[in-house]
Amino acid sequence: MSVDAAETRQTHVAITLDYQRLSAFALEVVCGVLRQKPDAVISLTTGRTPSGLYRALRQACQAGQVSLATARIICSEEYTGVTIDDPISLFGWLRRDVLTPCDVPLTSALYLAGDAPDPDAECRRFDEQIGRLGGIDLVVQTIGVNGHFGFNEPGTPRDAPSRVAELAPSTRESNAAYWPEQRRVPTTGLTMGLRATLSARYILLLAAGCAKAPALAQALDGPIDDQVPGSLLRLAPHLTVIADAEASQELRLRETVYGLRKCTGPLPGTGT
Ligand code: GLP
Repeated sequence: MSVDAAETRQTHVAITLDYQRLSAFALEVVCGVLRQKPDAVISLTTGRTPSGLYRALRQACQAGQVSLATARIICSEEYTGVTIDDPISLFGWLRRDVLTPCDVPLTSALYLAGDAPDPDAECRRFDEQIGRLGGIDLVVQTIGVNGHFGFNEPGTPRDAPSRVAELAPSTRESNAAYWPEQRRVPTTGLTMGLRATLSARYILLLAAGCAKAPALAQALDGPIDDQVPGSLLRLAPHLTVIADAEASQELRLRETVYGLRKCTGPLPGTGT
């Protein structure tokens, strides 16, 4: 299903020379949000792409330049059947990389319990909790080689709630890199849905490396279509994309249309 481009809202695309600059710029955006709203509700993902941002965030927190202590952190995905103490848990990954080093109380974090006895009810609880928090201020997401984000794979409708989702073969393949060889990547995961994501006040999409170039070009230059979940992010009120030179190499008109822009202005809806 294709959607009229007139429905799109505000999208900024920033192209950085390299991954280090991508991470530094992403840190600027996250810190900008936290400075405006220290108790911001921030959804984070995992993977290689955001790891530079998280390293920079840890350093900034430890140097006292920013604080996550009062922020409400959400982990947007988890594998089905995986406990948070399992070494391959995505929430566990975020806990090690961000929450513990940045002194975020674990009790204030929101995550999808992969081992919940009723995963559908767990996803409903997650969405309700997001509602109770007053929605999400900032979503940090990354794009997959097939255009997915989170575990929202091609074909996901834009109003999809958080739910149990089947993982595409390419997602399982790329995630296998994080799994010990003897363990198979699950075929399903619990994921924050598009409805909650697209309602966020601010979305930051990161893309690094040439493997992501075709998906990013489809997401930004192609039609808004649920076959490319990343393209649906253009329906959000405020989308900022930060891509390194490699990931941006297939973007149309990049010389004239895109450029490095500062996008750390006031957060819509915060009144600041
Ligand atoms: C996590 C995310 C996926 C992402 C994957 C690989 O599992 N939930 O959305 O595709 O990591 O991410 P990256 O390509 O950044 O390593």
